[in-house]
Amino acid sequence: MMKLTGKNVVITGASSGIGRSLALQLAKEGCSLALLARRVEELETVARQASQYNVIVKVYRCDVSNKDEVEKVFAHIKKFFSSIDVLVLNAGVSFRTDVRKDESAKAVQTFAVNVLGMVYCAGQVIPDFIQAKKGMIVGISSLAESRGFPRSGFYCASKAAASTYLESLRVELKKYNIKVLTVKPGFVKTPMTDKNEFKMPFIIPVEKAVQIIVDGIKKEKKIIQFTFGAVLGIKILKALPNWLFDFIAQNQLKKPLKK
Ligand SMILES: NC(=O)c1ccc[n+]([C@@H]2O[C@H](COP(=O)([O-])OP(=O)(O)OC[C@H]3O[C@@H](n4cnc5c(N)ncnc54)[C@H](OP(=O)(O)O)[C@@H]3O)[C@@H](O)[C@H]2O)c1
Repeated sequence: MMKLTGKNVVITGASSGIGRSLALQLAKEGCSLALLARRVEELETVARQASQYNVIVKVYRCDVSNKDEVEKVFAHIKKFFSSIDVLVLNAGVSFRTDVRKDESAKAVQTFAVNVLGMVYCAGQVIPDFIQAKKGMIVGISSLAESRGFPRSGFYCASKAAASTYLESLRVELKKYNIKVLTVKPGFVKTPMTDKNEFKMPFIIPVEKAVQIIVDGIKKEKKIIQFTFGAVLGIKILKALPNWLFDFIAQNQLKKPLKK
């Protein structure tokens, strides 16, 4: 079991949802935190709440899709913290898309944040981790990686890319004693899912999701996926022949898109 007390943890997308809740839980476990997101006021609120656990918490305004910004912010983090122990790649966006429109700007943002954001931030710690022969990268992907769900094409594709990227990292970095964990949540109640217009089976509160993630980090589990029902549902959907998946997925198109 990995001890979290005293670890220096960087979390991207810590201003809301899973990242925010994870920051508070890790502060409770005794971790010092560097919290990144674009909305600094929200980050400062999280930092104030986390400080009650007597840990060091620093906030950094950072758009993870901007490589220059990521480089500058990590330079500041490295100056302040003697070393980084764990990097949580959590920042993400999700858009519902209308196939009849030009939605390419949403595609650019989705891949820039969900995939390139991971690559840029991971790139800032990997050389140091290799030199130190230790470190952990926790990437938040999604069970949505498994199938191309309608109106979520960019999101599903971005999470498939994130999962395979993290898998490659896991294999390549093993010999340097660097752990790479991939988190694949089902539906979690956060601002991201609050805007969904469809039914979300097996949705769980964010605190429960974060408890599962923290337990998985302590156990250094390569894949942290939840909940049981969601994982089983996705396995079944993945095993279906395409004609049957298409038939079921078509049902989602019956409801009009929320504006
Ligand atoms: N909720 C779910 O059901 C679910 C399921 C599976 C996977 N996930 C994944 O879990 C992660 C967190 O999602 P969530 O549900 O907690 O969503 P959320 O509440 O919308 O939080 C998303 C976070 O990402 C940050 N972010 C977005 N764009 C960014 C950018 N360009 N640079 C830096 N930070 C950025 C946001 O901060 P700012 O807006 O302040 O920048 C926010 O803190 C995402 O990767 C998501 O895909 C969520």
